Amino acid sequence: MNIRYATEQDTEDILKLEAECMPHPWSRDDIEALITDERKFALLAEEDGMTAGYIGISYVLDEAEVGNICVSADHRRRGLASALIDRTSEILKGLGVVRIFLEVESDNAGAIALYERCGFIRYSERKDYYGTGRDALLYRLEGDIQ
Ligand SMILES: CC(C)(COP(=O)(O)OP(=O)(O)OC[C@H]1O[C@@H](n2cnc3c(N)ncnc32)[C@H](O)[C@@H]1OP(=O)(O)O)[C@@H](O)C(=O)NCCC(=O)NCCS
Repeated sequence: MNIRYATEQDTEDILKLEAECMPHPWSRDDIEALITDERKFALLAEEDGMTAGYIGISYVLDEAEVGNICVSADHRRRGLASALIDRTSEILKGLGVVRIFLEVESDNAGAIALYERCGFIRYSERKDYYGTGRDALLYRLEGDIQ
């Protein structure tokens, strides 16, 4: 597995991952902004030279947010998402970030297990955030950012 920053050349691969993994994929503009905006970045996880996963981050001052994370179905449960989160934490710590936030739909058991294993703590929830009966759980990682 190799983790690296995404560049403009990776936009198509990220759009494919979004289409494969996410019920509401991000737009091309959203992905391009991750790569070009100075307060955002995306990391790719590669296996055998192929793009297998990515994470998209935005940050302001000492706080950051995980916008999205996904791993292609064929490459799951091999530690790619955990590695993406670990590398993200390292980078953000270097940028002076002390808190990382994210939202996850309450029925996304896999992602919730991932985040909790990575040390994220649930601090709140938003009822019907994703539509009627579809709640968001709010998580943050702080203090023990690597
Ligand atoms: C959630 C997701 C990113 C996890 O990626 P991954 O590379 O498979 O995750 P990892 O291999 O790093 O998993 C690390 C740990 O998280 C937990 N975990 C991850 N996926 C899980 C699942 N489907 N069910 C239960 N636990 C899970 C496990 O504890 C796992 O460790 P283990 O494999 O030793 O048991 C991936 O399933 C995905 O892309 N899902 C669709 C997109 C999505 O829901 N993204 C999150 C939006 S908020």
